[in-house]
Amino acid sequence: MPKPSYHILVCTNKRPPGHPRGSCGENNADAVLEKLTMAIEEKMLFGKVILSTSSCLGPCSIGPVVVVYPDSVWYNKVKPEDVNEILDKHIGQGQKVDRLEIPDELWG
Ligand code: FES
Repeated sequence: MPKPSYHILVCTNKRPPGHPRGSCGENNADAVLEKLTMAIEEKMLFGKVILSTSSCLGPCSIGPVVVVYPDSVWYNKVKPEDVNEILDKHIGQGQKVDRLEIPDELWG
């Protein structure tokens, strides 16, 4: 197996409904993970990308959170329909998807 160029992390942490912090799991992270899994296979990106689930990454209320390394690009509010754009533009062309990136002002 070649060393992957990209590592995609998907937070799938779940908290109980109504929890004050919310969670990516509560915001359909499992569907994002499923779409990523299928799309990586369809686009034959094995070897270029490795996909992992993650527990809480911090910005819970704006999940699902997806992080792409080594670029350290953090995406928020990712939906299954965003997956192809992330794979085609970010992984395929090396350009982040600006509209999904967590804005700088949300970091303390
Ligand atoms: S639950 Fe996903 S970032 Fe906290």
